[in-house]
This record gives sequence, C-alpha cells and structure tokens, in this order.
Amino acid sequence: MGSNNNHYPTLESIWSAIKHIDGATLLDAKDILTAAKFFPKGLNKAAVTFRTTSLINQFCIGTPAQLLVGVTQFMGLPMCVAKKVLLPRPETERLVEIMLLDLKTHHNGAPVRILELGAGTGAIALSLAKFYSNCQVYSWDISKKAIRLAEKNKQHLNIPNVTFIHNSFFSDVPRSWTQESPIPTYVVSNPPYIPTDTCLKLSPSVLQNDPKRALNGGNDGLYFHRRLIQIAARTQWPLYLEIGFDQGPHIKTLAENAGCSSTIFPDYSGLDRVAIVRSHDVISA
Ligand SMILES: C[S@@+](CC[C@H](N)C(=O)[O-])C[C@H]1O[C@@H](n2cnc3c(N)ncnc32)[C@H](O)[C@@H]1O
Repeated sequence: MGSNNNHYPTLESIWSAIKHIDGATLLDAKDILTAAKFFPKGLNKAAVTFRTTSLINQFCIGTPAQLLVGVTQFMGLPMCVAKKVLLPRPETERLVEIMLLDLKTHHNGAPVRILELGAGTGAIALSLAKFYSNCQVYSWDISKKAIRLAEKNKQHLNIPNVTFIHNSFFSDVPRSWTQESPIPTYVVSNPPYIPTDTCLKLSPSVLQNDPKRALNGGNDGLYFHRRLIQIAARTQWPLYLEIGFDQGPHIKTLAENAGCSSTIFPDYSGLDRVAIVRSHDVISA
C-alpha cells in the first residue's frame, strides 16, 4: 500500500522548533504546517527534513509565516499575499467593520460608490464589496505589484464589484462623480502612517518584507492623512481612515482646521485605530 508519511512534520514538531523564537505563536506553527502540506507525497525522510528545516529557517530569519504559505485571512476571506505588498493586519478589520456598519445603517442596501486609496492586497476593497454587495469599489495603488496581487485576489474570490487601478492617491476622480451624482461616494484608506524616523527602527521582518512605500507617512507620519482630509473637505465625501495609536488628537486638529468633524474609534486592544472625517457642510446621511 502507499508510502508511510510518518516522517512528515506535525504541529507539535514545528511548534517545538519555533517556540523559543521571540514573538512566535501557535498560529505561526499552524501556517508553517500548512506550507509543509504542499510538500510532494512520498518524499524520503532526508528530503522532508531538508524542506522542513528550510521553512523553519526562513521563519527564523524573519519571513512571516503567512508569506511561507502565501495566504492569510482577512474578514474571514482568504487573501493571497506576497513579499513587498503590505500583509493585511488584523487591526485593519476594525476599519472595515465600522464602515460596513455605517453603510448598512445609512443606506440599507441602496447603491453606494467607494473609493479606496492604497489597495495593497485588496483586503479592504474586497471585503467591503463582499459584505455590502450593492456597492462599486474603485481601489487605487501606486504599486503595480499590489494591483496585480489585488486583481488575483478578486479573481480567486469571485467578487466582481471592485475595480483595481494603478493610480496615485492624488489623481483626479472622474467628473461624473462630483457633479450632483445621485450615488453617494465614500472614501476609505489605510495610508502609510509611520513617521520616517520610526520606519528605520521597525523589526527586520517588517523591513525585509513590507514595502517602505506602504509604511512611510513622512516626518510626522501624517503626510497622507493631512492630504486625504483636504480631499474630504473639498469633495464633502465621508472619509474612513486607519490611524496610528497616538494619532487621534492630531487627526482631530487636522479635521477641525479643514472645517470637518471627526470621530475616533479604538481597535480591540483599546488603542485609537479608526477615524471618520466628515465635512461640516454635509448633513449626516
Ligand atoms: C498601509 S498600505 C495599505 C494596504 C491595504 N489597503 C491594507 O490595508 O492592507 C498603503 C498602500 O498605499 C500605497 N501607496 C503609497 N503611496 C501611494 C500613493 N501616492 N498613491 C497610491 N498608493 C500609494 C502603497 O503601495 C500601499 O499598498
């Protein structure tokens, strides 16, 4: 009968190999085990040991376990991931949850248009489009690699109502959106928001695998927030932002200076994480 696969790694064997590494979790061991499940069947013991050791070594030198598997979960959806496209972070789910709740409360399934600035893997755009299906999402990113990966995720997940476009945050939007469009427009972004100095001190794993363009928010970390708030003030479109844990008071000031109101929400660790910015001129939907 078939070959004996007892020498293939188990969760216990992987966990005991990585548990001494700073910050390693059982979830990482599970991800590495998932990657090992792609080993061809019928390898001899030496070949399995070689491949397992190679996976564990890559993890030890800072490759996130999600990159070893090539997939992570976001809002319960499997998202393909790749080096140099920002890995979606669990705290970003809070931004999506808050926005979905508002869309459902204010629009109750009626059509809306959403502009996402900074697609990355497409995690935000695809989960909004999946869970508020009567929306058209347009998601822009300056990175061609990000746009290709987001498009791949769109095809895998079979979510048609999202268009990924290689474009800068600050390009003009189509005129038809601004001229008395009957469809309400929302803007959402998890922009780069880490101050340049702090970027240099990030963990080697982040520096090697995440793109700097996705992290660096300029000298005070607020370069993109500042410009996005100006867009919200000019267009009067509600803006949903991910923010750094210490940026809430700064966002409030930026919003006030631009003639907007803002509300700050914490993530599940109790840290400020999401801001909603609305122009004073708009009566809440
Ligand atoms: C923090 S990541 C967010 C990615 C994804 N939305 C997420 O939450 O996982 C920011 C993204 O903005 C993109 N980006 C940075 N500067 C940009 C610009 N000027 N125009 C368009 N996209 C930009 C980066 O390439 C990166 O994918």
